[in-house]
Amino acid sequence: MHPVLHRPGLGHELEPQPGRDTGSRLDQHGRIVLGAVYAGCAQPRQLRFVVGSDAVAVEGLRPEPGDGRWVPGIEDDVTDSGHPTILHPGTGPPAPAPGGPKTILGSVRTRFTELAGCEFPVQLAAMGGGIGTPRLAFAVAAAGALGMVGTDGLGRAELVGALGAGGGGRTPGHPVGAGFLMPFLNRDTVAAVAPLVKVVEFFYGDPDPALVQLGHGAGALVSWQVGSAEEARAAAGAGCDFLIAQGREAGGHLRARIGVLMLLDKVLGAVDVPVLAAGGVASARGMAAVLAAGADGVRVGTRFLLAEESGAHPHYRSAVIAASAGDTVVTGAFKASWPDAPHRVLRASLYAAAARTGEVSGASYPDGRPIPLFASSPPADNTGGDVDALPHYAGESVGAATEVLPAADIVRQIAGGAETLLRDRMRDLGLG
Ligand SMILES: Cc1cc2nc3c(=O)[nH]c(=O)nc-3n(C[C@H](O)[C@H](O)[C@H](O)COP(=O)(O)O)c2cc1C
Repeated sequence: MHPVLHRPGLGHELEPQPGRDTGSRLDQHGRIVLGAVYAGCAQPRQLRFVVGSDAVAVEGLRPEPGDGRWVPGIEDDVTDSGHPTILHPGTGPPAPAPGGPKTILGSVRTRFTELAGCEFPVQLAAMGGGIGTPRLAFAVAAAGALGMVGTDGLGRAELVGALGAGGGGRTPGHPVGAGFLMPFLNRDTVAAVAPLVKVVEFFYGDPDPALVQLGHGAGALVSWQVGSAEEARAAAGAGCDFLIAQGREAGGHLRARIGVLMLLDKVLGAVDVPVLAAGGVASARGMAAVLAAGADGVRVGTRFLLAEESGAHPHYRSAVIAASAGDTVVTGAFKASWPDAPHRVLRASLYAAAARTGEVSGASYPDGRPIPLFASSPPADNTGGDVDALPHYAGESVGAATEVLPAADIVRQIAGGAETLLRDRMRDLGLG
């Protein structure tokens, strides 16, 4: 029996070439491309697989041993979108799947998906400065991953209003969290936001048991993004429910001095709580690699700059699309409002700032105030003026961010592709 599993799909229609088994692979954009065997079929036919935002996956489409006959009508079932279905080759009706219909996507379960209550082991990185908006967080959550709001730059009333709307951040299956930066922390804001979200998270400061208790007291999970095994131990000791190991490849402000795989190795050896990997993970391959290494999930920032729902300024998006990993640099330059905190940006934005004279960047906050030169504010879509000299935070993963897509497509490309890769790889390695 060779089950065909599919879900309703949107987007890219693919027509595998007749006469060969193309297997499943990823295209240049990380989308899943599926193939099938046509040679030897009694009635060769073109099957059309639709792969896109709602993900179609087809597996094991091979002729039965012997005459390799195809199942009549199977293409109708495959192309006709419906509920997740399992079809079985054969002349009789589809046999019921053990345990009910299964889908390919979303079948990776980790301690993180259990904790956060989401379908995919993917967390949107909290991105402050108007980039990681509530709109983006809710879109990611609706796609089955953990959405995060970057609270930096948003007022308490605005946060409470946005997070409390539409069922808040604790809608079953669609969790949203809030990320706080320790250098700018306001505990009253944490207390106001925590009851509205699934996760409260902290970054860039010593893990603090009182903050963890504050989150837990409001019924939220508490996480901490760390850059070393020592910091991971402190965060786990403070009572955090899960951690994020942020490697040096990451976009934005950095704690780590080493790359994500080595850091992950050290952190996993230091703590027992679930650990997500962040930094340079923006593709199916990256996700498959860190899951195989023991991560319970991934945290993705840079790639979501190009989500339709992100708050990134159009110039920033264009710069991200044009850039590759070698175009990023770690600097301490954008320190006017946040000193002593290295950060990874697009080199061109650093050069543009360095080329300016005077004290202003040329850009302005939404209320019209000029943004000082070398301030930490990134260009958001409500930033005015010339934004080129503002920090364009981006990770080495920037090369994987090539087109503007709905957040849901990004989640599924990364998570769905990783599942396919892991399955194929396990089989190739003789482990499946
Ligand atoms: C534009 C941008 C803004 C960021 N802002 C924050 C922030 O406010 N709080 C935070 O915890 N991390 C922030 N980060 C870092 C992310 O949490 C995460 O570590 C990083 O994006 C992961 O690497 P990647 O960009 O390669 O996916 C930011 C990253 C970017 C790219």
